[in-house]
Formats: sequence, C-alpha cells, structure tokens
Amino acid sequence: MNAGLIGVGKFVPPHILTNEDLEKRMDTSDEWIRTMTGIEERHIADDDMDTSHMAYQAAVNAIEDAGITAEEIDLILVATVTPDRPFPSVATMLQEQLGAKNAAAMDLSAACAGFMYGLVTAKQFIETNTYQNVLVVGVEKLSKITDWEDRNTAVLFGDGAGAAIVGAVSEGRGILSFELGADGSGGKHLYQDDKLVMNGREVFKFAVRQMGESAVNVIEKAGLSKEDVDYLIPHQANIRIMEASRERLELPIEKMSKTIQKYGNTSAASIPISLVDDLAEGKIKDDDVLVFVGFGGGLTWGAVCMRW
Ligand code: ACO
Repeated sequence: MNAGLIGVGKFVPPHILTNEDLEKRMDTSDEWIRTMTGIEERHIADDDMDTSHMAYQAAVNAIEDAGITAEEIDLILVATVTPDRPFPSVATMLQEQLGAKNAAAMDLSAACAGFMYGLVTAKQFIETNTYQNVLVVGVEKLSKITDWEDRNTAVLFGDGAGAAIVGAVSEGRGILSFELGADGSGGKHLYQDDKLVMNGREVFKFAVRQMGESAVNVIEKAGLSKEDVDYLIPHQANIRIMEASRERLELPIEKMSKTIQKYGNTSAASIPISLVDDLAEGKIKDDDVLVFVGFGGGLTWGAVCMRW
C-alpha cells in the first residue's frame, strides 16, 4: 500500500505587507529585498488571528478536497514552531474545532522542514495500515516572533497555513521515497530567544548544499533519474537558495514552484501553500513526478519524491 496526498488546502491571512510598507518602517528597500530574496509581499495575521485559526481554515479546505468527514481522520499532525501556546497543542485545538473526535493529535517541531517530517510520519501509519486518514498541517505565525527592529530577518517571513490529507493511493503513486535529517550542531544559527535570531550567511550556505543533496537523494532512492522529475517544490526561503536546488536538478525554470514573491518565507507552510497554488494553476498533472525539499531551524531537512 502506498501513502499519498488525497486532499490539500491552504489559508493565508488577508492582510498584505508589501516591501514598500517595510521601507517606511526600517532601513531597507524594495530593490534589496527583491534582489536578495525574491520576496515582494507577505501576508501577516492580525493580533486576534492565531496559528490555530489559520490551521483550521487550511484543514477544512483539505478535508473538503479529500471528500472525507472530520470523523474519518485518525491522526492530526501539526508542524509548527509558533503554536498558540506551548500546550495544549494546536493539533488538539484543531481536533476539537473540526469535530475530529476519532483522531489522535500532536504537534511536531522541525521548523521549516516540519511539513516534510509530518508527511513522512503520516506515511508510516498509512502504509502499515494502522490509520486510514492522517491530517498534516504546516502552519506558522512567524510575525509574532519576528524582531521588527532587525532588518536582517523582518523582511523575510510571512504567516500562513497549508494542509494535506494523507491516505492510501494506488500502487506506484503517492510517496515513492523520502529523506529526513538533522544537524543539531547548527542550532546556534537559527533559533528563537524571545524573538527569532538568525545567522543568515550560515543558514544560506547550509541550505544551498542540503537542498540540492536531498533532492538528488530522494530521486535516486525512488529509482528515478533527474530527467524523470516533472516539478520541484522547494521550501520558499530565498529565491537564490531555491535556484540552487533547481540548477542541481538541471530543471528548466518553469518546472520549479515559485510563490515566495507573494508569501515570503512561511516556514512549515511554504511547501503545501505552493502545492495548492500550483495545482490551481494547472502546473501539476496526474502522474507527474514531484520533488518536495525543505530545510529549517534545528538544523533540519527533509525531502519527498512522489508520483501525483
Ligand atoms: N535591507 C537592506 N539591507 C540589508 C537588509 C535589508 N533588509 N538586510 C541586510 N542588509 C544588508 C546587511 O546589513 C549587509 O550590509 P553590509 O554589507 O553593509 O554589512 C548587506 O545587506 C549584506 O548582508 P548579508 O547578510 O551578508 O547578505 P546575504 O547575501 O547573506 O543575504 C539573506 C541575506 C537574504 C538573509 C540570506 O543570508 C539568506 O537568505 N539566508 C537564509 C535565510 C533563510 O533561508 N532562513 C531560513 C529560515 S527557516 C526557519 O526555520 C524559520
């Protein structure tokens, strides 16, 4: 039995913060942000919209897309580093709000690689026939831990949520291979100490190397070659990092997902948000071979190769 995504959904808060808005708040420029990161605007949640609200909206959309009921969900995994509070988990809040009364629920902390960790965890329960439907949500309200005085980080992040229902799909489809990894010695480069602290240079170097390597590894593990890949969805952290992974796979530009200009870096939400937009725009077709690859604080990384 193979695990695959049988429904997807996303939510971004309505309020948009543009580069021009940031120019008025700090010593930065639209030109610098676009050139150095690829970001043009990001969505920011208001004070009364917490992580669980965004997760709920994305989850409702994914459940509807999958054509299942909330009672049919066996497990809820929420990947986030910005939960409403340390406990109860966002996952248990969702369980209650969705009426998913048969679901176990827990949060998962792997920063921007969280959605990859969630998908791979869900896959284990599906392929052992333990559970039928696992809801995986990647959600972040990074704006609440952003240091708005620090131009090095404040321009990078946005808020949002993406969700998927992981269930059984026919043989040969769904998740074909994966890679997860961690290097705790790099934890000092990206962490929360009240506000988010980052050594951009170090994270950049790590990400360029790891994103390329992991993408290649999952293709090989799936018994495929670079030419078989139809579409790449890299974590939307920085266009220059994304481009490095695309070049490593020797893919033409139209075969890489690019939503960073609209949303900034939404951490664990970036890959599922991109997936939903790409599907809506017809960029992904049945039977396409997709590669998802992400990295984040921890340091952590994860990649998945799947046949859609
Ligand atoms: N506006 C204008 N100038 C700026 C800004 C800004 N917003 N930010 C930094 N600068 C300046 C710096 O002060 C520096 O000036 P100086 O040369 O006079 O000292 C200059 O721009 C270059 O800064 P660097 O930090 O050296 O530039 P770099 O090429 O490293 O790019 C960036 C910075 C975009 C942050 C890059 O390092 C990067 O993308 N790193 C990875 C970030 C990332 O992906 N984080 C993932 C987080 S995932 C998670 O788990 C939450």
